[in-house]
Amino acid sequence: MSDIKKELIDEFEKIFGDSTGVSVYFAPGRVNLIGEHTDYNGGHVFPCALTIGTYAAVRKRDDRELNFYSMNFPDSGVVKTSLDDMRPKADDSWTAYPKGVIWAFTGRGYDIPTGLDVLIYGTIPAGSGLSSSASLEVLTGEFLRDQFGLNEVTNVDLAKIGQYSENNYNGMNCGIMDQFASAMGKKDNAIFLDTATLEFEYAPIALKDACIIVTNSNVKHSLVGSDYNTRRAECEEALAELKKVVDIESLGDLDEATFEANKSVITKDNCRARAKHAVYENRRTIKAVKALKDGDVEAFGKLMNEAHTSMSVDYAASCPEVDILVEAAWKIEGVLGSRITGGGFGGCSVSIVRNSAVEKFKSEVAAEYEAKTGLKADFYVVSIGDGPLKL
Ligand code: GLA
Repeated sequence: MSDIKKELIDEFEKIFGDSTGVSVYFAPGRVNLIGEHTDYNGGHVFPCALTIGTYAAVRKRDDRELNFYSMNFPDSGVVKTSLDDMRPKADDSWTAYPKGVIWAFTGRGYDIPTGLDVLIYGTIPAGSGLSSSASLEVLTGEFLRDQFGLNEVTNVDLAKIGQYSENNYNGMNCGIMDQFASAMGKKDNAIFLDTATLEFEYAPIALKDACIIVTNSNVKHSLVGSDYNTRRAECEEALAELKKVVDIESLGDLDEATFEANKSVITKDNCRARAKHAVYENRRTIKAVKALKDGDVEAFGKLMNEAHTSMSVDYAASCPEVDILVEAAWKIEGVLGSRITGGGFGGCSVSIVRNSAVEKFKSEVAAEYEAKTGLKADFYVVSIGDGPLKL
């Protein structure tokens, strides 16, 4: 038995009395390499699943009670609710994510006849923009499918249900990228996903003599109630105006030239800038994946740098701290590309760094970051992992 499995079962026994019949599950977080804020604009994304994520030890109950406990929030104790009372409540805190997925499963007609005892343990730093919420949603779908024998539920369904519950139960109008990356992850591969059709292909991440480093600014981003929903609304406003002059379904249908020729119909400056990012970022993502397939890691890195500037200037979705991390990285020889990753407004940067420059990268970025912000950055060398599984 793996160490982590044993640790979770032992902890389950402490919290819930005994551990007979417990199963342990995992679902990964994700890092997005390029293609930011394109997923709700009908564009492309290029994320990969991580080997960090969220674990659950789970057992069915005989009654309809739902008991949730998180090893990350021990002070909250066991949070109790019931399958007969699934309304969102103000004090749900993190349990709103598993509750939302259970609610979405039953809403789709899947039979969840009994309650559950659930112990959670997450290895993704909270608020880092590496999709701790999506991993918890996909994890919940994974254990519901297994515990209740819902074998007709596919991994793409897990992603869709996760997104649906986050939109409709948690009030965060996210796209499908995070849940899709978690549910469909494949070791050593990124996922090139067309969010308009959900067609996708796996792209092996072979970076020759370089690696992927995630740097956490430790400035927490909280997307619920943040500017995220505003950005989405600004894109929708721009799209509605563009639709009067071009025959498109989404901003992802536009190329750069058609956007430039028609952008004057967008009346507000902020909406025009957001739409510009969505259009150019989608095209950049397509070009970046092609560059990677051609073995041109340097070109991929340059597109990442452009993506950062676009996200920071046109989309106004970075923050001063992550800009400092990225600009410090750009100065270092051996850094092929660096950009903010995820929803933004805090969180992490992702960088492609030559193996020979990793130590210099860590020390120089850390020093400049601390000097300018007084904050400490954390660094993780990324390993790309698989989707959800039962341990
Ligand atoms: C968050 C959302 C995703 C996506 C990214 C930005 O992570 O959950 O759907 O929109 O932001 O690319």
